[in-house]
Amino acid sequence: MIKRSQWTTGAAVCLIALGAHAQGTPSPADMQRGMEIMQKQMAVMSPELVEKAKALSPEIKQFLAKVAMRHERRSDTLTLVQVMHEIMAEHQMIGTAIATDNGPMAADAARRLAFHRLPRGGMLPYLPLEKVTTESLSVLPSMEIAVEGSAMKIAEAAEKGDMAAAAHHYGDMTAGCVACHMHFRGQPGASAYMPRLKK
Ligand code: HEC
Repeated sequence: MIKRSQWTTGAAVCLIALGAHAQGTPSPADMQRGMEIMQKQMAVMSPELVEKAKALSPEIKQFLAKVAMRHERRSDTLTLVQVMHEIMAEHQMIGTAIATDNGPMAADAARRLAFHRLPRGGMLPYLPLEKVTTESLSVLPSMEIAVEGSAMKIAEAAEKGDMAAAAHHYGDMTAGCVACHMHFRGQPGASAYMPRLKK
């Protein structure tokens, strides 16, 4: 059996690899922080989820470590649904701002959405257990580009006053919400007493 320390060593290696790829070499302090976040997330997961998380590929662990480090607002109490409601509110605010030609309002809300809060334990505890596999999670990087990448493009366009471009990116971002929900979420509020609704 793999020990928890082996996950964190893996995460450290991944973070080094990450630095070599794109965003400059993370400082030792960043790597330490990434490892601590991962450890904290693992500590609140059930043993069966911990096993599934440990079995993920190094690339997915690397991606999850990057996400955990990039999002500096991390809640110890909020669930994914609660974080999603906050994201929904930002999404609506961006729509309002674009429609009313309010660039600063759109840009601020888009940046808050791109750097949204993380729920207790990260994302994995809220997914159906059978979706916590390397294959199923391999869609996450493209979802991140669609949602958070487009949100940053909205912010840049809105700041320049180019609301037509912002509206275009708003569509791409929303397509990312839809794609992720189709992949990971069933019908909202579906009840175990009406099993046909569950996908
Ligand atoms: C990485 C995947 C992912 C992305 C991207 C994503 N969501 Fe979600 N969302 C989920 C999952 C999974 C749930 C169900 C969580 C649960 O039931 O515990 C959810 C739930 C929600 C909910 C709560 C009610 C419901 O429908 O279940 C809202 C509202 C929501 N998302 C809005 C959004 C919006 C708006 C965006 C885009 C800006 C978005 N989401 C992007 C995965 C995602």
